[in-house]
Amino acid sequence: MDPVSHWTPGDIADQTGRTALITGATGGIGLRTARVLAARGARVILAGRDKARLDRAVEAVRADAPQAETGTLVLDLSDLASVREAAARIAETETVDLLINNAGVMNLPERRTTRDGFEMTVGTNHLGHFAFDAQVWPAVRRSAAPRVVTVSAIAARWPTGKLDDLMSEKRYRGMSAYAKSKRANVVYTLELACRTAGTSLTAAVIHPGSAMTDLQRHSGTGLARLLTPLAERLLMGSAEGAAWPSLYAATSPGVTSGEFIGPAGRDQTSGTPRPVRLPAGAGDPGEGERLWTTSERLTGLTFRP
Ligand SMILES: NC(=O)c1ccc[n+]([C@@H]2O[C@H](COP(=O)([O-])OP(=O)(O)OC[C@H]3O[C@@H](n4cnc5c(N)ncnc54)[C@H](OP(=O)(O)O)[C@@H]3O)[C@@H](O)[C@H]2O)c1
Repeated sequence: MDPVSHWTPGDIADQTGRTALITGATGGIGLRTARVLAARGARVILAGRDKARLDRAVEAVRADAPQAETGTLVLDLSDLASVREAAARIAETETVDLLINNAGVMNLPERRTTRDGFEMTVGTNHLGHFAFDAQVWPAVRRSAAPRVVTVSAIAARWPTGKLDDLMSEKRYRGMSAYAKSKRANVVYTLELACRTAGTSLTAAVIHPGSAMTDLQRHSGTGLARLLTPLAERLLMGSAEGAAWPSLYAATSPGVTSGEFIGPAGRDQTSGTPRPVRLPAGAGDPGEGERLWTTSERLTGLTFRP
């Protein structure tokens, strides 16, 4: 029997002794991922912008796993100073076995910039995570078998997601900026996998399919805004199901570094996780190197994984 096509979270091995750090764990897919990992015995560190929301998320984790060991980390990925401070707290003493780059924003109605002047979507979804990973890396390296799972989207395959005009300075469109950020998640992971080849680290990128979460709060205008919630309710999956690819990539022994994992169901919107087709051209020589160099220059960091 093909183990991938029949995988469910019930197949997750006991995670006792492993620590998972999940960004964007206050709601949606990130919170669901944290709840399941904690229920399987992992110690979970929930990262998000707001301490009160983080505390509520910890309560939700404990509802499923009363004995769970939990921690919180205040982290604003749209502010390099916050990223530096948060990463330093972890890098000094922690061991991070599972680093899940999950946080994200989508379809912001007008072009906004982060504290450091980056377009907000790419600045949060890609550059914030790049800077966080670079600085939290000593904690990842302390693990004997670390995994880095980055949450991308089907939008990574859209032609509008080309990585030229990364900051959308020539033209801003909310969903194009999102597609760029999600392609960057894929290209970053492929380059990370390349740069860590031959080590015990597994770097995988996933897309969760589609689920009704707070992510869609900026989507739709006018009539569409009225109809979208109904259409979404009918067409989209749950955060529970959308967490499956992250959970599979974080825990399954069958995962190989550099894989893109998504749901196997119709149109890849939901279903059992499996390796799926990479965005066209992702993995081409040069693109990963260019994105890495650009990300180092923009964040002012050197990242040698
Ligand atoms: N839902 C879908 O259909 C879908 C489809 C494809 C891909 N995805 C991807 O899945 C991931 C999770 O999305 P979701 O659907 O669960 O969305 P969500 O419910 O809106 O959750 C997003 C999370 O990201 C955090 N976040 C946003 N901006 C942040 C920042 N500047 N710094 C730190 N954390 C920040 C939020 O935390 P706070 O606001 O509490 O700080 C929240 O916990 C995203 O990467 C998204 O692109 C989702």
